[in-house]
Amino acid sequence: MEDVLRVGFGEDAHRLAAERPLWLGGVAIADAPRGAVAHSDGDALIHALADAMLSAWGAGDIGGYFPPSDPAYRGLAGAELLGRIQEILHPRVGPIHTVNLAAVVTLDHPRLHPHRDAIRTRLSGLLAVAPTRVNVAFKTSEGLAPDHVQARVTVLVAGAGPGTPG
Ligand code: C5P
Ligand code: MG
Repeated sequence: MEDVLRVGFGEDAHRLAAERPLWLGGVAIADAPRGAVAHSDGDALIHALADAMLSAWGAGDIGGYFPPSDPAYRGLAGAELLGRIQEILHPRVGPIHTVNLAAVVTLDHPRLHPHRDAIRTRLSGLLAVAPTRVNVAFKTSEGLAPDHVQARVTVLVAGAGPGTPG
């Protein structure tokens, strides 16, 4: 069966609080003054990416597979979550190739551009694609939303998933 191209989109946000680690794209942001309040590790970028992957194949969202009330979700690392999403999709889609990924993270502090290469490298490793196919952009909220971190992700993926003509 021939692969089809599918676009996916995902979004996530978490409140920020002191004495919490901040994880973004599977990378710990060591100089962050605050981190995400969450049952999992609160990696908004990975959560948005996971939802983008699921949406591409009409497979709902991460809450449907990992309810926040589930103890198994507690402290779940973003990288581990993404691996499990890939396991969930594999039986219905087959091998998935990521054509490219475009992410935007909105956060006022700290500046994230020093972490761009680390995040890009980590995401490219997790998705087994070249770093040149991964772009991570950063925006401040201009002080309008200083107490949260938000991520939005678009992916273009190829696979022989549901909806394949013929
Ligand atoms: O939000 P704003 O347009 O003012 O951001 C200017 C630039 O600052 C962005 O293009 C981005 O490269 C960088 N930035 C950053 N870390 C953030 C927010 C923005 O490095 N947390
Ligand atoms: Mg989240």
